[in-house]
Amino acid sequence: MSVLIQEKSEQELSHILNDADFCNIVQDIINNQTVQEMKKYRQHYNTSTYDHCLEVAYISYKICKKLKLDYKSMARAAMLHDLFLYDWRKSQRDVEIEGLHAFVHPKIALKNASQIFDLNDKEKDIIAKHMWPVTLLHFPRYKESFVIVIVDKYCALHESFLHYKNSIFNH
Ligand SMILES: [Fe+2]
Ligand SMILES: [Fe+2]
Repeated sequence: MSVLIQEKSEQELSHILNDADFCNIVQDIINNQTVQEMKKYRQHYNTSTYDHCLEVAYISYKICKKLKLDYKSMARAAMLHDLFLYDWRKSQRDVEIEGLHAFVHPKIALKNASQIFDLNDKEKDIIAKHMWPVTLLHFPRYKESFVIVIVDKYCALHESFLHYKNSIFNH
């Protein structure tokens, strides 16, 4: 059974879109055409990669702000952490990548993001290490990189949970 992307409505994203400070920090990123392309790809179940990145970026930003960490680098890097731009379910057949998606996509996202934006060392680390401990040897170097390691997994679980909840209660 094919699962369609369900783009989140403005109302569902209002907690993010109404946060002027956050929007200011990521404005140029969310307006970028390549970043907008993430809306075409499905991340977990019916969530687009774009909505996933937006959610991960916002939660990570809030946590870093609370912990007095570098919330600007956190928000910007998290918005770009899955900028791989292919359907990862077909990555073994239709897309030529060097290795399994789970291991190589942080490197691909970093390469794509670096071509468009001027990233600092922390932002590069956040993107490159976000899959740790899957990418065992790529140990996170900054506290912010550990934040995304946790938040990314939390959002993946939440997106999966929502899908199952909807399919149980809407049928
Ligand atoms: Fe990822
Ligand atoms: Fe992710």
